[in-house]
Amino acid sequence: MRVLVIGSGAREHALLLALRRDPQVEQLAVAPGNAGTAAIAEQYDVDISSGPAVVALAQRLASDLVVVGPEVPLVLGVADALRAAGIACFGPSKDAARIEGSKAFAKDVMAAAGVRTAASEIVDNPANLDAALNRFGPPAGQAAWVVKDDGLAAGKGVVVTADRDVARAHAAGLLDSGHPVLLESFLDGPEVSLFCVVDGETVVPLLPAQDFKRVGDNDSGPNTGGMGAYTPLPWLPAQVLTQIVDEIVKPVAAEMVSRGSAFSGLLYAGLAITSAGPSVVEFNCRFGDPETQAVLSLLESPLGQLLNAAATGTLASFEELRWRDGAAVTVVVAAENYPGRPRVGDVITGSEADGVLHAGTARREDGAVVSTGGRVLSVVGTGADLDGARTAAYTALKSIKLPGSHFRTDIGLAAAEGRISL
Ligand code: GLY
Repeated sequence: MRVLVIGSGAREHALLLALRRDPQVEQLAVAPGNAGTAAIAEQYDVDISSGPAVVALAQRLASDLVVVGPEVPLVLGVADALRAAGIACFGPSKDAARIEGSKAFAKDVMAAAGVRTAASEIVDNPANLDAALNRFGPPAGQAAWVVKDDGLAAGKGVVVTADRDVARAHAAGLLDSGHPVLLESFLDGPEVSLFCVVDGETVVPLLPAQDFKRVGDNDSGPNTGGMGAYTPLPWLPAQVLTQIVDEIVKPVAAEMVSRGSAFSGLLYAGLAITSAGPSVVEFNCRFGDPETQAVLSLLESPLGQLLNAAATGTLASFEELRWRDGAAVTVVVAAENYPGRPRVGDVITGSEADGVLHAGTARREDGAVVSTGGRVLSVVGTGADLDGARTAAYTALKSIKLPGSHFRTDIGLAAAEGRISL
C-alpha cells in the first residue's frame, strides 16, 4: 500500500511512524511534512488546502490511500476531491467535517441524537452580547464563562474565565472580526479525548486519552493547541467508556448518516465526565494533537490497514484492535512566547532521538534543525505505567535544547498520583 499523509505536525509524524510499522505499507509520502518526517517519508511541498493540488500529488505518487491529518483541508473539501478522483481517503467529506467546522452544526446534530452537551447560545450581533453573557457564567451559578469562536480556531478560540470583563472582551473581539460567538455553560469534571475510527454507523474506539490545553502547570495561563497528553486513563471505568461509545458516538454517527452527511474518518469526541455522566465539550473531525502521539505509540494493530478499511467501507469486519500494555505520555516543547506569537528560527539540538516527534521544525541549508512554529516538538515516553511513561518522556526531554522553549512538568501527574476521581 502506498500512503500519502497530509499535514506537518507531530500528529502526522506519529501517523507516519505507526504506518511504517504496518507490513502492508510499502511507500510513505507526506505533504508538506517537517524536518522530522523527512527522515521517514518522501516529502512534497504542495498547498494542502487545495483539492486539485492534493489530488495531483496523489495521482503522481499512485497513492492507494491518502490520510488527511488537519481539519482545515477537510473542512475545505479535500477528501471530496480525492474521492471524486477515485482515490481512497481517510478523512470525512466537507459536509461531515462541519461537525468540527461549525459548532452550531455540531450542537444541532447532538440535540437530534439526544446527546448530553453543554447548554449554549450563538451570539452574532454585538448588541445582544451583554444580555447573553448575563444568561451564562457565574451569576447563573456556574463556575465560569466559556466563550468560543463558532468556526475553526486551532484550539485558541476558547476562553474559559470567571472574569466577566475577560469573557466580554474575547467575545467582542471575535464579533468585531466577523466571527459568531458561542457561549456555553461550563462543564465540570475531568476531560476525556476519545478517538473513534468511524465509517457510517461503524464505530471503532481507540484508547481514551487526556490532553492538557492550558500553557502552564496546574492548568494555569491561556489555552493552547495542547501541551501534552497521556493514555490510557486509569481513573476511567470501562463501563463509562462503553457508555461514551454507545450513548454518544454511535448515536452521533447514526444521526450523520440519517442527514445524508455520513462520517468516514476519525471522529474525536472531547468530553467532560460530569456528575450527571459524560457530556460532550466538542467533536473534531480528525486525530487530536497531542493525544495521537501517545495513543498511536501503544497501537499494535496495523494502522494502514485500519485506516484503509474505514476509507474503503470494510471497517465493520476489521480485527479487534490490539494494544501494547502500559502507558504513554507526550510532552510538547513550545517556542518562547507560545501561545502568543512564537519566536522562530532558533537552532534545536537533540531532536533526532527516538520518541521525539517534530511539529514546527525545518532543516536549514547548513543542515541545522530550526524552529518554525509555536509547538515545536512532542516527546513521547512509554512505560509499564504512567509513572514509567512520565519518567521516560521527561528524561528524553533533558537531551533537547531549544533557546527560550518551555514545557509543562505535570503531564499525567495527577492521574499517576491517583488524584483524579469521578
Ligand atoms: N487536543 C486538542 C485538539 O487536537 O484539538
